[in-house]
Amino acid sequence: MRDFVLLYVNGVEHQVSGDDAFLSLSDYLRYSLNKCGTKVVCAEGDCGACTVFLGRLNAPKSGIEYIPVNACIQYMYQLDCTHIVTVEGLKVDGDLNRIQQSMVDCHGAQCGYCTPGFIVAMCSLFEQCDKGEKSCNVTRQEVSDALTGNLCRCTGYEAIIKAAMSVDEKEYKRLDNLYPSQTLISAFKKHHDEPVSVKGEESEFFKPTDVKSAVEYKSNHPGVVIVSGGTDVCVNLNKGRIEPKNIMVLTHVSGLDELKTSGNTVEVGARVSLRKLEEFFQETLPEFHHILWVFGSPQIRYAGTLAGNIANGSPIADSLPFLFVSGAEVEVAGLKGDRRIKVNQLYSGYRKMVLTDDEIIVKIHIPLPAKSTKLKLYKVSKREHLDISSFTAAISLERDGDKISNAQVAYGGVAAVVLKLSKTEEFLNGKPFSLDTFRGAGEVAMKEIMPISDVRGSKDYRLQLAANIMEKFYFETADEKELVCP
Ligand SMILES: Cc1cc2nc3c(=O)[nH]c(=O)nc-3n(C[C@H](O)[C@H](O)[C@H](O)COP(=O)(O)OP(=O)(O)OC[C@H]3O[C@@H](n4cnc5c(N)ncnc54)[C@H](O)[C@@H]3O)c2cc1C
Ligand code: FES
Ligand code: FES
Repeated sequence: MRDFVLLYVNGVEHQVSGDDAFLSLSDYLRYSLNKCGTKVVCAEGDCGACTVFLGRLNAPKSGIEYIPVNACIQYMYQLDCTHIVTVEGLKVDGDLNRIQQSMVDCHGAQCGYCTPGFIVAMCSLFEQCDKGEKSCNVTRQEVSDALTGNLCRCTGYEAIIKAAMSVDEKEYKRLDNLYPSQTLISAFKKHHDEPVSVKGEESEFFKPTDVKSAVEYKSNHPGVVIVSGGTDVCVNLNKGRIEPKNIMVLTHVSGLDELKTSGNTVEVGARVSLRKLEEFFQETLPEFHHILWVFGSPQIRYAGTLAGNIANGSPIADSLPFLFVSGAEVEVAGLKGDRRIKVNQLYSGYRKMVLTDDEIIVKIHIPLPAKSTKLKLYKVSKREHLDISSFTAAISLERDGDKISNAQVAYGGVAAVVLKLSKTEEFLNGKPFSLDTFRGAGEVAMKEIMPISDVRGSKDYRLQLAANIMEKFYFETADEKELVCP
């Protein structure tokens, strides 16, 4: 068993052990390595000031895939066999790279505190940009999408967007050219499948490489905190809400990163990132793709997982209403073997799942809706991106001529858990597809939920949404000729 975390920072190898293995990446960079270009503002993944590149072996293990992550919510124990590139490491032969120079030329920084994070997020856009043309520039929409996870309080976004749009893709030197990948690939291939355990003064972490040892460790260490992408757990660590003695990271458990379609079902491994899912569903299921696109920010989606969203069990978790109405199941592994549980039967109370102490989620099975299914997913929040939902909903049904059949309705943000509204479904089934029907269903839905008032919305607001969303569904899915306007 290895007793240190192996990682590279800007091309230099580091072996991290003892208490340093329990630091956030941003603290490690700033205080252990003196790389102060990485800034910390919110320490909860919300502002992007701490954005750095995280490189790891790609799926065929033939190259390094670089993703932008928030260093404040990545902890060192998650980073075995990774290459971290900070804003300092983006320079080319000691000079600012093309994007850094463009930020200077376009006056993209005033206090400059947000600037390193913006630079990394922009470079990430150029890392993915490959239009195969002789020369090309990124579009305004592409820049805006890439920067949804970065906040600037003093410059104003126009200059920053202009800085990105002024760069020709061909002028950007990619990380694979800055850091030739052969050394990294061979080091990571050699050490990737080694389990790691590090003891600090107060905590211990374990990185298993197979499901069996993960399950055994969980069963032998009651209260162990599982860390996957860490986008929920690490915020809680930073806020001092949890102080775990034992931590288990799932980053290298084999078999958990598979994403495939099997018949009519999509199988999502527990380590598949939300970003991979977003790409996957773009063509097959645009409704769910949209929910994933407005989920957090690119930095959050590259790190976070669907399994983490499910296991976190928040009543406003954005993926849950769809998983409830689609009949999705989680596959869990435990000492007694594997079993499958319907997502809508997974929760026994506020953030409580019905898993036993040894079980972990290994896969999610999502049946794809039939072509004839009318499906709509809703996220109501104050901002389109990077915002926590006040209310979420999924409505799905079939039409048998004029009549409604197989209605499935789930609402989030209206009780301690996401609710499947069985009375509303019963009301809709067999009724004509009409505005009156959906108005009636809205009234039934209001009686089935128990919302509370909090910072994201009052009880009355949520009750009204529960009714209005039914009408919205009607107007969005009715054929034009049958539309009745009030
Ligand atoms: C800035 C920011 C924005 C966000 N925006 C959104 C948003 O728009 N919508 C939304 O719904 N959420 C949002 N989140 C919450 C979070 O990103 C999601 O819940 C994400 O899906 C969590 O995945 P993860 O892999 O990072 O989970 P982690 O933080 O690693 O884990 C979350 C929980 O799941 C458990 N867990 C993880 N994997 C497993 C497993 N395989 N088996 C058993 N238990 C497991 C962990 O122990 C922990 O309790 C946001 C968070 C941040 C910080
Ligand atoms: S400091 Fe704000 S996202 Fe990390
Ligand atoms: S330049 Fe000051 S916060 Fe962006």
